[in-house]
Amino acid sequence: MRKKIVAGNWKMNTLPAEGVELAKGVVAGRGEVCSCVNFIVCPPFTHLSMVAEALKGSDIELGAQNCAAEAKGAYTGEVAASMIAALGCKYVILGHSERRQYYGETSATLNKKMEQAYANNLTPIYCVGENLEEREAGKHFDVVKAQIEEVVYNLTEEQFKNLVIAYEPVWAIGTGKTATADQAQEIHAYIRKVLAEKFGAAAAECPILYGGSCKPANAAEIFAKEDVDGGLIGGAALKAADFLAIGKGFQK
Ligand code: PGA
Repeated sequence: MRKKIVAGNWKMNTLPAEGVELAKGVVAGRGEVCSCVNFIVCPPFTHLSMVAEALKGSDIELGAQNCAAEAKGAYTGEVAASMIAALGCKYVILGHSERRQYYGETSATLNKKMEQAYANNLTPIYCVGENLEEREAGKHFDVVKAQIEEVVYNLTEEQFKNLVIAYEPVWAIGTGKTATADQAQEIHAYIRKVLAEKFGAAAAECPILYGGSCKPANAAEIFAKEDVDGGLIGGAALKAADFLAIGKGFQK
């Protein structure tokens, strides 16, 4: 049985106190959702320690949205994987399309970040996905394949057992335009096949999340698909009630 995961990517939203309120709201309503769902919240770095405190005593896990490619040293403005791990993070989102697009993250950088994550016992939530132009040209399979081969194929079998993949078509992120459940299933199944080519049977255990305008109204239909194991949620993760309602998508 693969893990069911609903992860919130808060991006660069909320002030610290607002983030704490949001986390408390998730903790307060968590009991309404099946305990089979693993909730993760990924606030900005500045909120991590306060949000960790707010999550104490709950089963909601903490993640960061990024980490540095280097272990430590003279890298002004960077935040090391060891630092976020020390604040209680269990996960780190890596390779989000916004990082690839706006901050020039390449596979070479991401390989180093993955290494840092594993060295600090963090589980990467590795994001892949094509942009609109690539989808329209029918290149989406090739794009995600390359994103997996160039980074995930470098992992050891042990590391691969601690990996979450998020498929996020760039054209669906923050646009209100969601992939259909069938589109999601088609590419999730393909991603699992690509993973199986390298890691064999272990690919059947790797959670693959869908991301891109996932909300309470569409989560159940998308999560019902065989190869969709949950969601990476942006906008809808900023309201505790919506975030939790997405988790309820698993109960239908
Ligand atoms: P969205 O973002 O849910 O706001 O589309 C998802 C993401 O980028 O992780």
